[in-house]
Amino acid sequence: MQSVKIGILGLGTVGSGTVNVLTRNSREISRRAGRDIEIYRAADRDLDKPKGCDTSAINLTDDAFDIINDPEIQIVVELIGGTGVAKELVIKAIENGKHVVTANKALIAIHGNELFELAQEKGVTISFEAAVAGGIPIIKAMREGLAGNRIEWLAGIINGTGNFILTEMREKGRDFADVLAEAQALGYAEADPTFDIEGIDAAHKLTIMASIAFGIPLQFDKCYTEGISRIAQEDVLNANELGYRIKHLGIAKKTTAGVELRVHPTLIPQRRLLANVNGVMNAVVVKGDAVGPTLYYGAGAGSEATASAVVADIVDIVRALTTDPENRVPHLAFQPDALKDTPI
Ligand code: NDP
Ligand code: HSE
Repeated sequence: MQSVKIGILGLGTVGSGTVNVLTRNSREISRRAGRDIEIYRAADRDLDKPKGCDTSAINLTDDAFDIINDPEIQIVVELIGGTGVAKELVIKAIENGKHVVTANKALIAIHGNELFELAQEKGVTISFEAAVAGGIPIIKAMREGLAGNRIEWLAGIINGTGNFILTEMREKGRDFADVLAEAQALGYAEADPTFDIEGIDAAHKLTIMASIAFGIPLQFDKCYTEGISRIAQEDVLNANELGYRIKHLGIAKKTTAGVELRVHPTLIPQRRLLANVNGVMNAVVVKGDAVGPTLYYGAGAGSEATASAVVADIVDIVRALTTDPENRVPHLAFQPDALKDTPI
């Protein structure tokens, strides 16, 4: 059977990780997908800049639209980030009948409603597992594993950079700005790191999770958003002395008035599970009415951890294309008609 050709947009932290994982684990991935997956083309705006992966066998371009307009490519993997050119590229890819995999939470949280509607119209899929909680398969867990539940609430540590900063401040007494610079060097932080430290990135992710958990439209502007930028070393140490840890949480809860969405720092007793999630790790608790509380834990950011989720989405789409080419919109697709305008 012919391989499925994919095009990758952006060869930064996540793009390079995706190339590395697809290349290193190609045999396992092909077996699970039912077809070989070929990185047919990749785009990055500066091809002279060193990449974190071997690009010698990839047909590179500095114009991402070359990929969007290439009729051979069935899946476009958007790893540029932001809501500017990335949005344009994703719209054009959908219009050209390509399935899209993205790690871009800003794009999904802010423009997802219109993108999913367009994708539905064109019969293609947008998958975004990597957009929430890095390598943790939380989207799949909520859609599939918890499909039989009414979700009552979810809460979690959903920004790796912020958790890394708070952990290093507490464990090693390090300076906030110093740890943030390290998180940037490690590829954890957003292009604009204020998104991490002001809670915006966590709010994007919470918006997406709430939409899936409660079947509501994406409403990023309704989320109460507060970050960790005003937390000082003494706050972290005082909390510790009193038997607590400061953790930045995203919380979504169904109430009689609608769905409550908030991200902010919290004090958690040290004996609690979430208090002991450290460094770049994320953890999300989801409470279903049938199953009760469930916990998902893993790396919330980083090159290959995030690539793990990107590749899982690619495999899902390839598997659906292979087993059921007529019904091209598999369970992964967001169903806009299922959305209800629940107040938040
Ligand atoms: P990077 O900045 O490391 O990578 C983005 C890449 O895209 C860079 O190489 C950049 O080039 C390139 N680029 C920018 N504009 C264009 C363009 N017009 N055409 C082609 N290439 C372009 O970001 P990340 O890999 O960290 O993040 C990518 C996405 O993944 C974002 O949406 C982010 O939120 C998300 N994400 C990131 C995680 C992480 O741990 N880093 C985890 C989960 C999600 P240049 O360097 O020259 O700007
Ligand atoms: N900047 C994000 C974080 C990347 O630190 O969590 C993962 O989404």
